[in-house]
Amino acid sequence: MNLVVVSNRVARGKANEPMTGGLAAALLPVVEKSGAIWVGSSGRVREGAQKEPFAEIEALGAGALAMLDLPAAHYGGYYEGFANSALWPALHSRTDLIRASQEDYLSYREVNAFMARALLRFAKPEAVFWVQDYHFLALGAELRDLGVTQPIGFFLHTPWPARAVIGGVPHHRELVEAMLAYDLIGFQTQDDCENFLSYVQSDLGLGVQDGVVASRHGRSHVAVFPIGIDPEKFAVQAAKAVSHPDVSRLRRSLNGEKLAIGVDRLDYSKGLVNRINAFDEMWTLHPALRRTVSLLQIATPSRGAIEAYGNLQNELAKLISDVNGRHGEVDWTPIRYLNKGFSQTVLAGLYRTAQVGVVTPLHDGMNLVAKEYVAAQNPADPGVLVLSKFAGAANELDTALLVNPHDIDSMARTIATALSMPLTERRMRWEAMMAKLRAGTIQQWFADFVDALEEAQSDKAATEPLVPEPPTLWPLRSVNSSTRF
Ligand code: UDP
Ligand code: G6P
Repeated sequence: MNLVVVSNRVARGKANEPMTGGLAAALLPVVEKSGAIWVGSSGRVREGAQKEPFAEIEALGAGALAMLDLPAAHYGGYYEGFANSALWPALHSRTDLIRASQEDYLSYREVNAFMARALLRFAKPEAVFWVQDYHFLALGAELRDLGVTQPIGFFLHTPWPARAVIGGVPHHRELVEAMLAYDLIGFQTQDDCENFLSYVQSDLGLGVQDGVVASRHGRSHVAVFPIGIDPEKFAVQAAKAVSHPDVSRLRRSLNGEKLAIGVDRLDYSKGLVNRINAFDEMWTLHPALRRTVSLLQIATPSRGAIEAYGNLQNELAKLISDVNGRHGEVDWTPIRYLNKGFSQTVLAGLYRTAQVGVVTPLHDGMNLVAKEYVAAQNPADPGVLVLSKFAGAANELDTALLVNPHDIDSMARTIATALSMPLTERRMRWEAMMAKLRAGTIQQWFADFVDALEEAQSDKAATEPLVPEPPTLWPLRSVNSSTRF
């Protein structure tokens, strides 16, 4: 098998750099080991890319990373436009934030078609394609239109919301219909899977049996694959990281005070405003907790050119300054607020330093930070995870303290409970969570999906004749190509 992984965001193999989002963070170690080719955006645009595609190719572990310059005329409409101002808000049930124009949709489709043509370069007979996330809902259908008959799988890293919410996305029928060209469609949770199948049955009027959808594209398997982490690696990193300068400086600065930690992209799905309001409420309700616990909130800037993200950044900065102004003392700052990223090695040490991890999204596909916080704890004296019941991770980490992020008072009380939880209870809850993390590692997730994709393809081959057509090879110019294809 010759695996080709495709995503918009890719990660280069640099362990000492911050990761941008869960997709890149999760895929890097497994793709690196698998020998796959990982194709994605270079983050640069190019005039005339459609006529002459340009990729930077470098070695990545046993495989390679191919980073394409995307067409300049369509990048904004695709990335800031349709993907992140129409699909992202809808997938996170924020239909109020949907902003989409017809031009944005056309650019999204153009970039999907562009990526399909670029992928022909890798469509060897034994190739298997695995497309990631909402940037490329229509990529499978574009590949099929170009005559690709190899297996094509798709995994969605975000939630898939209720039918009515998807109805808020312009061209939703066309897009979901295009998704059915994938042989296997993977979701993070059972709810996501059920919402998708319910849409397909009710809105597209298609038949579904045992998780298989029959459409004009053939049979598409739909299943749940909760993404994981490498818990042992995080545990080792966390134990080592206590001597990292950032971590030891943090420890020294605490002077015996307890610490709660939040680590999020600056995104409205993460429930940051509600979280800060909960801390405000906690310090108001329990004045004894002033000076004895502070919050370290890392909020890495994300998608800054989009209005909703800029507005959130301003709102959050103002709110935190207000809370610090009201509760702070000359020698005590309640919330340490950082708009920058840290490497996972340092993060592991920061997680281990904090007695409480607060992960309170309003809606989140999985939330790997929740899993990383658990894996980084000291087994002899673990911290407590306060987790939103609307994070995908809540399905597995059900011995965390689960909260409703819309209920500020209850969140405030739960954080206070976490801070005073006795050691025996902390250990019991932590051990149960660790057992789940060990049972669902990122390596297992990767292997399960690839196996299921091969099975889906065999099922397809058994039920319908494939009509192979030789794909038209589209030449790809490359620079730095340490690997030849
Ligand atoms: N991350 C990082 N440095 C930071 C903040 C986050 O490397 O400063 C990583 C973090 O370790 C995690 C990922 O980014 O693996 C965030 O994934 P998550 O699923 O929690 O959220 P997403 O950003 O994908 O919505
Ligand atoms: C989420 C999405 C990923 C995306 C990441 C960071 O995890 O599911 O597809 O890569 O956020 O967002 P960005 O827009 O910076 O790639």
